[in-house]
Amino acid sequence: MSRRPLESLRSQRWFASNDMRGFAHRQRTQQMGMRREEFLGKPVIGILNTWSEMSPCHAHLRQRAEAVKRGVWQAGGYPVELPALSVGEVMVKPTTMLYRNFLAMEAEELLRSHPIDGAVLMGGCDKSTPGLLMGAFSVDLPVIYCPAGPMSNGQWRGQKTGAGTHTKKYWDELRAGSITQDDWVDLESRMTRSAGTCNTMGTASTMTSIVDAMGLTLPGASSLPACDSGHPRMASTCGSRIVEMVWEDLKPSDFVTRASFLNGLVAYMALGGSTNAAVHLVAMARRLGISLTLEDMDAMAGRIPVLANLFPSGEYLMEDFYFAGGLSALLAKVADHLDLSARTVTGGTLGDSLGDAPCWNDDVIRGLDNPVVSLEKGRTLALLKGNLAPNGAVMKSSAANQKFLQHTGPAWCSTIPAR
Ligand code: FES
Repeated sequence: MSRRPLESLRSQRWFASNDMRGFAHRQRTQQMGMRREEFLGKPVIGILNTWSEMSPCHAHLRQRAEAVKRGVWQAGGYPVELPALSVGEVMVKPTTMLYRNFLAMEAEELLRSHPIDGAVLMGGCDKSTPGLLMGAFSVDLPVIYCPAGPMSNGQWRGQKTGAGTHTKKYWDELRAGSITQDDWVDLESRMTRSAGTCNTMGTASTMTSIVDAMGLTLPGASSLPACDSGHPRMASTCGSRIVEMVWEDLKPSDFVTRASFLNGLVAYMALGGSTNAAVHLVAMARRLGISLTLEDMDAMAGRIPVLANLFPSGEYLMEDFYFAGGLSALLAKVADHLDLSARTVTGGTLGDSLGDAPCWNDDVIRGLDNPVVSLEKGRTLALLKGNLAPNGAVMKSSAANQKFLQHTGPAWCSTIPAR
């Protein structure tokens, strides 16, 4: 590994100067109980943590930040934890979409205004992934994304229950009288068994999996369940790796390219991912000056069918996906459609990371010859254009009831801003 000179680290501008400001920065760090030798001459690693008690999906990130710190110390860095907006999807009204860009601004300014040389970004609930990465792309410091991971599988009376998807199903059943009020209350405490993001292929796992395929996480990290013992080990490895990335000066602009985004799209379509990702990916690409359009997504959706047999397009949950081999196994099945030379946070290529990733359950992770939904029957994403949406709208025909494919009657429109 070629190592950049210590003097080139931006934190040196705060800590190394022998003037009054440098004195104050060192003095105030010692005020927090740090010895000089614990922080001087080391890369300063920011840990942007979106933990909050209003975000159940990130409830474990407070402890996980300690695991990241462990890795940073072990690799010779100085870790500092910085709280960032949690944008927990469930509690925030009227919609977290309003706050994604606040998080992007906050992430950007936290990194820019402090003596940070590199950062671990901790998020997962829907808008937190694009928000944190949009900000980080604008600053262009070495970063690694540490996904919160999906919650454990839910079960109720022998039936798999997915957060979100099944809430709506059982709400309908309650109104139809097929379950009782007592059943409904019982469900409240059983559907979401642990910290972590929704255990279906909703926006959270769609986005963390896409950025995993783009090389912004440790390989396969997005599939690790939040409460698996491997998750803190992954977090600690993020801490160690980011220190190396700082010395290598490996920034997003060095390895995130259009090819990375197209790899992300391959994963998106094979996962049967959320339509919300279309909005986020365009915004993320623009931060790096990369062209990515809805037409790119439509074209990819026409080539890659849904292969991950996960709710809502399929029948399993994220923990099943992890046990079947996770994202790496899925990507290995569509390797011919990927640019395996795309680089990742490891410093190597996607092809190096994937190797021959095995699949342990061919029903959960299907091959191209046996998709969950064939391209003729439905796609992860279909681009719609017409007088209601002149700039384009998207729908997930793979998970849509047939009655939605033709409609006569009222229409409610929301828009993506024109380019
Ligand atoms: Fe946070 Fe679904 S509510 S991931």
